[in-house]
Amino acid sequence: MAQRVTRRAFLSTSATAGAGAALGCSALGSPAAQASESLPPSPAPGRPVSIASGNGLRATARAVELLQSGEDTLDAVIAGVTIVEDDPEDMTVGYGGLPNEEGVVELDACVMHGPSCNAGAVAALQKIRNPSRVAQLVMSRTDHVLLAGEGALRFAVAHGFEPQDLLTDKARRAWLRWKETHSAADDWLSEEEARAALDARPTGTINCLAVDAKGDLSGVTTTSGLAYKIPGRVGDSPIIGAGLYVDNDVGAAGATGRGEAVIISSGSRIVCENMRRGMPPAEAVLDVLERIARQTVEPRLRDEKGRPAFDVTLYALRKDGAYASGSIWSGKSFAVHGAAGGRLEACLHLFEREA
Ligand code: GLY
Repeated sequence: MAQRVTRRAFLSTSATAGAGAALGCSALGSPAAQASESLPPSPAPGRPVSIASGNGLRATARAVELLQSGEDTLDAVIAGVTIVEDDPEDMTVGYGGLPNEEGVVELDACVMHGPSCNAGAVAALQKIRNPSRVAQLVMSRTDHVLLAGEGALRFAVAHGFEPQDLLTDKARRAWLRWKETHSAADDWLSEEEARAALDARPTGTINCLAVDAKGDLSGVTTTSGLAYKIPGRVGDSPIIGAGLYVDNDVGAAGATGRGEAVIISSGSRIVCENMRRGMPPAEAVLDVLERIARQTVEPRLRDEKGRPAFDVTLYALRKDGAYASGSIWSGKSFAVHGAAGGRLEACLHLFEREA
């Protein structure tokens, strides 16, 4: 049976935990742990501020630099993630991202602009290294929200994007290694495999959120998706409400990690709704992680103790600049940049990874 993670448990370990510290469910059930009912505070460093996944330190620095010069929040976060999309060393995003099972890089991205309540997204986009910029054009230059596959590519080319091969030699070699050894590790599940344990594969992504000095918010999520996926698989990153949600009255939220779990939980939307109902960012993300843990009932998705055999990280940025990030498993960090500079902070978590 899955270990049930209760709200009380989330609220149980902060007596010894500072901001950004672990919130381990290893303390579940301990009388000492249940003595306290408060979470670590969600810091509010003032505005502007930008937060991002752990691979987004440069993205948040660029976003804040642009916000300080008066740029719109959406242009700022897109300029930030463009650095990562262009970086061949980040094999989870844009150029150099790990390909699908046929060796073709397919990218997903979405953007959401708080002040205009508008959004755009692309899914399974090939050959264009900056899907976040194409998503912005879907928002601003179409009456649609999401374009996929060949149509998304044609739309990008019509807007002057240069098609190119996004598979770097490093990513091709990683894919080839996988091809040569994958046998049971693809996404085609035989009846036996559907009952077997999940074989974890990279699902890196960048999510970047920002609030400017006025309190306007925007966000972007961009990814090459699950490594070696079935061609056409779309994760949470281009799905508004899953990989990203922005509510200019309340805050913004994003997600990285196993997209299927984030889609099923409507993760980012629920984080924003939690903040609307008054939960601080830390509680808002942990509540959704708890739901994901509880809703993970398929045996192949659970470890031997009934916990999710995958990770999801959620990011929350409230309108006043307060923020938090949490993961199912310990060990993750996230990027923060405010007026005083940038740093990586530890994510809260539900479960302590055993060494
Ligand atoms: N969160 C990225 C993906 O699952 O595609």
